Amino acid sequence: MSTIAPGPRGHFLLGSLPDLRRDPARFLKESQATFGDVVRFSFGGSVAHLVSSPSGIRHVLQANAKNYTKNTPGIQKLKAILGEGLLTSDGEFWLRQRRIAQPAFHRDRLQGFADLIDKHAEALCVRWRVEALAGRPVDAHREMMALTLTIVGEALFGADVAADAPAVAHALDEILLVQDARFTRAIPLPVWLPVRENRRFSAAKAALDDVCMRMIRGRRGATEGRSDLLSMLMDARDPETGQGMSDAQLRDEVVTTFVAGHETTANALTYALYLLGAHAPAQEELGEAARLEFPSGIRCREVFRWAPAERVVNEALRLYPPGWLFARSPTEDDEVDGFAIPKGSFVFISAWVVHRKADLWTNPDAFEPGRFAASPPDRFAFFPYSGGPRQCIGAAFADMEMHAIVARIAQSFSWRSIGPVPPIDPKVTLRPKGGVPLSLSLRVAPSP
Ligand code: HEM
Repeated sequence: MSTIAPGPRGHFLLGSLPDLRRDPARFLKESQATFGDVVRFSFGGSVAHLVSSPSGIRHVLQANAKNYTKNTPGIQKLKAILGEGLLTSDGEFWLRQRRIAQPAFHRDRLQGFADLIDKHAEALCVRWRVEALAGRPVDAHREMMALTLTIVGEALFGADVAADAPAVAHALDEILLVQDARFTRAIPLPVWLPVRENRRFSAAKAALDDVCMRMIRGRRGATEGRSDLLSMLMDARDPETGQGMSDAQLRDEVVTTFVAGHETTANALTYALYLLGAHAPAQEELGEAARLEFPSGIRCREVFRWAPAERVVNEALRLYPPGWLFARSPTEDDEVDGFAIPKGSFVFISAWVVHRKADLWTNPDAFEPGRFAASPPDRFAFFPYSGGPRQCIGAAFADMEMHAIVARIAQSFSWRSIGPVPPIDPKVTLRPKGGVPLSLSLRVAPSP
């Protein structure tokens, strides 16, 4: 017989909502440390469980995934911008979209993006050489946000996006800002109220939609073959029904890919660079390995899954997982690790909590890329891209991009992190709060 899981008592009316709002990452971590791997708490009248054992996570995300939907308040809010895209949709509709989109993210097709990753990573290094010679620090977070936006933009739309890039970047900034404000507000502001925040959101959404729809309509009329993600999504057919996507569906998938595919990658890269800048021996080891193995320069195709870069990136993803918290809602009563999970409640799974659990990881808070020389203790002890049917469709794209960028920067520069450990800002994604300044020096002379 299943039992009721232990957990904090919380406020008599609001439950743990005030703690969750004040410092969600801390609340979840402390709850797991105090009450164990299944913690029950209430917030604003809803019952929730934080599940942190690999066995429990496997059950929710994989073994009994059919019982868990994404019908949660966070996802409902995200729909205001992402619509019914892959990240936010559910059930049969999601499955159909996933089947259609999957081939566009196949590893062989992703190799086609290697050259554009190389091109933009090289352009970054050229600019950074100037900064290094001038002795000016760079802000890793700002730089990585710009780089990953350019890369995912070009991967989606080909070169077409170049002229629209500043407008898209601005619109995404505005949307994420407003979205964060909406997530953390105690009393929701009705979205139809004509206040400044809602007007900013609508204007940004309209600008983004305008760019996306223009590209989609332009492509519908075009005859020449393209190999960017948009064309792949447009050409993709459901293997069972032979159906493609409508313009409205394409719009939702394009915006989803833009949003899901740039900020996450930028945050992980920023922390990877920060950590290497604060751990000289690890940085030296990676830089030396890159110079020895690739004397004539780093190419994205060669360093995808190259162990020295992969270990550093994995360790950054372990310590600072951008997808730090996800939620599900069971459609039927369930049981996780012997504890009752009632239907209609919420289940929270936090990579931030699990990736730092002392029973799974030795020295859990330390940056030790070498630990990834061995496999993680469990498939669900390390899950930066989630797992089961809803796992990240862009994982290979992100890994390919991050391995290449980290290896290339380590080959060309040595750097120091100037500031303290960047505090985390756990919102929709886990990102660093404030700038992340790096002081750069040239490692090798620039090629003529
Ligand atoms: C370091 C980079 C990234 C991280 C840490 C990350 C993490 C995640 C996580 C944790 C999920 C599952 C969320 C949940 O279950 O609620 C997810 C889903 C998703 N990600 Fe990523 N992601 C990254 C990069 C990317 C990239 C580069 C793309 C696209 C180019 C992308 C597109 C998506 C999409 C479309 C989904 C929804 C998949 C589905 O439900 O079928 N992500 N991502």
